[in-house]
Amino acid sequence: MNRKPIFAANWKLNKSIAETHSYFETIARHSVNPNHADVMIAPPYTHLPAAIASSPTWAAIGAQNVSAELSGAFTGEVSIQVLAELGCQYVIVGHSERRALFGETDALLSDKVRRVIQAGLTAIFCVGETLEEREAGATTAVISTQIKGALKPLAHLIEGHIDQLVVAYEPVWAIGTGKVATPDQAQQVHHAIRAELASHLGLDASRMIRIQYGGSVKPDNIVDLMKQPDIDGALVGGASLSPDSFYEIIKNGVSANESLG
Ligand code: PGA
Repeated sequence: MNRKPIFAANWKLNKSIAETHSYFETIARHSVNPNHADVMIAPPYTHLPAAIASSPTWAAIGAQNVSAELSGAFTGEVSIQVLAELGCQYVIVGHSERRALFGETDALLSDKVRRVIQAGLTAIFCVGETLEEREAGATTAVISTQIKGALKPLAHLIEGHIDQLVVAYEPVWAIGTGKVATPDQAQQVHHAIRAELASHLGLDASRMIRIQYGGSVKPDNIVDLMKQPDIDGALVGGASLSPDSFYEIIKNGVSANESLG
């Protein structure tokens, strides 16, 4: 199955608003054919209006998080409706930093994915194992629990909105560490993710849903990752902070994908 690759930038808690403007000035000098790849950039919440105002047409803007609630007494939260009103098209849900540092559970993440899809945006739902879990041979079990907990309850909703769900496999031990998973390691887990998706959402859906790899992706390692049959793009942290290196990842990733025919 030929899935269009998707490359996403996760800025995390980085950059000022002034830097946001100059980032988009630089990246807008490049261009990406929207038939070849989808591109998404997720700055902090406060930078979204600046990013939306200055992003080139080929780059959609996304948020790094969203509230599971729509309105009310939830101090510090931001609702999906406001993100939609701003013009966001994507939301990253369940990044391992949200899970580990902010105690987000699979049940909460399920509510968040539901909000995102119901509002007409696309959720990038993150899964991944820690080093201890990998060393204990628990990688597949961890991923299966994460998918079962968050996506299985939404099977019916997802069935009608397959294109509004992207899964990102981000081994926690590879995030921000410079230790990228080998293409074989990543492919094995992507394959297992697709099998898990098939068991809850059906074979057709599992073949259509795009699965990104994330964790120390750089312009020089994206090529071999993209050659794997179940890797459909990347979620990039550190290397997305430079517009030129993020663009190079997209360019190299697209040409690796094209070379597969
Ligand atoms: P990294 O982060 O590319 O800096 O490893 C990836 C992520 O956390 O999404």
